[in-house]
Amino acid sequence: MFDYSGILVYLKITKLLFCIYDLRNLILLVYFVRIMNFLNIQAIDKIRIREEIKIMKLNIVNSKIIDIPKIVDAKGRGNMGVIEKEVIPFNINRVYYLYDVPSGETRGGHAHKDQLELLIALSGSFEVILDDGIKKEKVMLNNPNKGLIIPTMTWRELENFSSGAVCLVIASDVYIEEDYIRDYRTFELSVVR
Ligand code: TYD
Repeated sequence: MFDYSGILVYLKITKLLFCIYDLRNLILLVYFVRIMNFLNIQAIDKIRIREEIKIMKLNIVNSKIIDIPKIVDAKGRGNMGVIEKEVIPFNINRVYYLYDVPSGETRGGHAHKDQLELLIALSGSFEVILDDGIKKEKVMLNNPNKGLIIPTMTWRELENFSSGAVCLVIASDVYIEEDYIRDYRTFELSVVR
């Protein structure tokens, strides 16, 4: 009589190996799906951030209006503006704000040699006159979701503050008086090309 037991053992071992192989494939598949999901979520987040930050170029070179990403509360509890580091093209080293500016008063009247600033009308409105020594441009800020980036060597005047206006300024460096040019003639001479 032929002994089948050896063949049966062989078949059982083969089946077990197939099961282990299938299990390994299953685990690999689960990890593959998880990695793909993770990459997909990251890509979607990046697209979302890129879409949120729209940039409108102005006439003054390197000045621009950027969109401040907004989080609208799902329960209607109001909006939130969020400024994370990728929103601003410089490192944040100082934040200050102008408020209670009397009607008819102006602020600014200077340029910065190295510092960059982002201005946001957190409340109310005001106008910013930008001047690069050749061109002038007036920008109205009246929306907390818009920010004006002022490049270096740009003379700025802030005027026509509405009642209750608050101007938030985010600056690339701490306060350094030597970074200011406060005399227009000196500014003009510095930017002559
Ligand atoms: P200034 O920048 O000239 O104000 P604005 O451009 O709004 O008219 O600053 C007014 C004064 O405040 C000036 O004496 C310097 C001082 N100051 C600080 O001490 N720290 C600061 O961060 C800023 C912006 C101004």
